[in-house]
Amino acid sequence: MSATGNRRTPLIAGNWKMYKTVSQAEAFIAALLPRVSSLQGVDVAVCPPYLALQALVDSARGSPVQVYAQNMHHAPEGAFTGEVSAPMLVEVGVHGVILGHSERRQMFGETDRALQLKVPAALEAGLVPILCVGETEEEREAGDTERKLRHQVQEDLARVETGRLGEVVIAYEPIWAIGSGRVATPERAQEAIAFVRALVADRSREQAERTRVLYGGSVKSENCGELLCLPDIDGALVGGGSLDPESFAAIADAAASS
Ligand code: 13P
Repeated sequence: MSATGNRRTPLIAGNWKMYKTVSQAEAFIAALLPRVSSLQGVDVAVCPPYLALQALVDSARGSPVQVYAQNMHHAPEGAFTGEVSAPMLVEVGVHGVILGHSERRQMFGETDRALQLKVPAALEAGLVPILCVGETEEEREAGDTERKLRHQVQEDLARVETGRLGEVVIAYEPIWAIGSGRVATPERAQEAIAFVRALVADRSREQAERTRVLYGGSVKSENCGELLCLPDIDGALVGGGSLDPESFAAIADAAASS
């Protein structure tokens, strides 16, 4: 049994976004490993920029820390300048990949149609996808949160075989909470995350019980305890709070022991 009272192992993933050079990433992992190596009952992942993936995979080998990428193209190879494919990530030893982060959706034109191809491509290559979903402030104020989540979850997972839905990690990241310091209240986070799980259950109850659903948006070591103890929340996707090894390790520790 995990800390959250179910059989899903919580995942604490640090999304570094466009922060840290290779040498900064190496310094981070050297400081993180001793702080998390004895934690039980929690998966810990770091998601650096592409250039630091190899260095982190090498440094984290044999440790409980997994390394994820922040994006990938759906095709295994091709004339797609500037893109990186799933087999390329797998060869480097990457464990998984963040897909559909709101920053990619809003600033780089990531579409639900592209995600429909990316999520199954990641699974097929052996990567764990972390699919990000979430509403804007305007959508929330208009009472459109559930409509937005339903659309994103249904569309983005449409081509995932039902029997593999439980392998997908979903991160609920309300866009208004990202980088704003305005963390969702535990009630709101629990409600939205239970709704996301119910959407997966519409296709398979059994798979929905396996699917890990994370919360993301202004998670810090100071506020993570009240979120991680909620019944449907299986961990966190952490941005700013993952850039410092001590604060990130404290979040992982809270997930292991809450
Ligand atoms: P912050 O934790 O900095 O709000 O970022 C959240 C996020 O976007 C993680 O993917």
